[in-house]
Amino acid sequence: MHKVDIFDTTLRDGEQSPGCSLNAAEKLEIAYQLARTGVDVIEAGFAASSPGDFAAVKTIAEQVRGPVITALARGVRSDIEAVAEAVKPAERPRIHIVVSASDIHLERKMRKSKDEVLQMGVDSVRFARQFCDDVEYSTEDASRADLDYLSRTLEAVINAGATVINLPDTVGYAVPGEWFETFMAVMNRVPNIDKAKISVHCHNDLGMGVANSLEAIRAGVQQVEGCFNGIGERAGNASLEEIIMALHMRSDYYNAYTDINLKELYRTCQLISNRMGMPIPRNKAIVGGNAFAHSSGIHQDGVIKDRSNYEIISPELIGLETSDIVLSARSGRAALSYRLKALGYELTQDELNEVYQRFLARIIHKNSS
Ligand code: KIV
Ligand code: ZN
Repeated sequence: MHKVDIFDTTLRDGEQSPGCSLNAAEKLEIAYQLARTGVDVIEAGFAASSPGDFAAVKTIAEQVRGPVITALARGVRSDIEAVAEAVKPAERPRIHIVVSASDIHLERKMRKSKDEVLQMGVDSVRFARQFCDDVEYSTEDASRADLDYLSRTLEAVINAGATVINLPDTVGYAVPGEWFETFMAVMNRVPNIDKAKISVHCHNDLGMGVANSLEAIRAGVQQVEGCFNGIGERAGNASLEEIIMALHMRSDYYNAYTDINLKELYRTCQLISNRMGMPIPRNKAIVGGNAFAHSSGIHQDGVIKDRSNYEIISPELIGLETSDIVLSARSGRAALSYRLKALGYELTQDELNEVYQRFLARIIHKNSS
């Protein structure tokens, strides 16, 4: 079993969700709740992007204890200095640097040669290490990068002092099997890979952010990045509560665990949804309103007999009180009797038959009107 660190970027990548923004007090409130949930790393913002973001990162670094506190910098000195200053008060500060790695980004965004960009990465890490012992280096657009160049870059930045190397699927282009192979290849090719923690960061453009993150974990990465509720740039980041619960439920398969306090998951997702103004879809895995609701008669009968018939996760595990038996036109007598008992009514079989007919008539009338 290997431990996987949970790196939460709700306050940085998550806040890049179109239409979402948080004030300083809301960011601090969320950061405290993330710490209570037991995340290992909080990415508190992009310090150089505005004085407000800088101040929010600094306040979190001053006040929130437990997790590593980091913030994002591009591979330029002024960004790195801003992060270094903002995270300095943290118990465990980290500087996170991102520099592109794919041919597309090098040619069409940075307009620099591979060697120039590699050198920029090395110089940035060396510069950051003057301020902080913990430096994460992200190879932006790694899933579309040339594997030789990616491996050369990783080797060079680890030699320069990077303590964590992160491979982002920035545009959500990766597919699970291929992404697993990328991580295996990097682990085989980069000779000093054991000197740094390996991390993964996936986006959800093809709806595979969680699956891709789990494949990287299966390959052996020690840190996974994402956001609660799967919020984030465009279609969002990999959803942390789904990754955490997949690891909890299927540790037999992934051979990995997290130190997350599962009982705080529901509260954390609700808080973030509420403060960001991003409602959680009812059918969302783990924390959606329907995730523990049973509506068909066959399922309701099975759940009432024994919840394990149709529930793989007990709602109490994530901090919810209980699962929900929803009375609908598909419900049977078992569900109705269960709800009536919960309300304090013990009915004989004849009484139940009669109430059931009246219930059906009423619900059918309601559905057709
Ligand atoms: O998606 C991405 O590439 C990022 C990096 C900054 C890690 O968010
Ligand atoms: Zn991202």
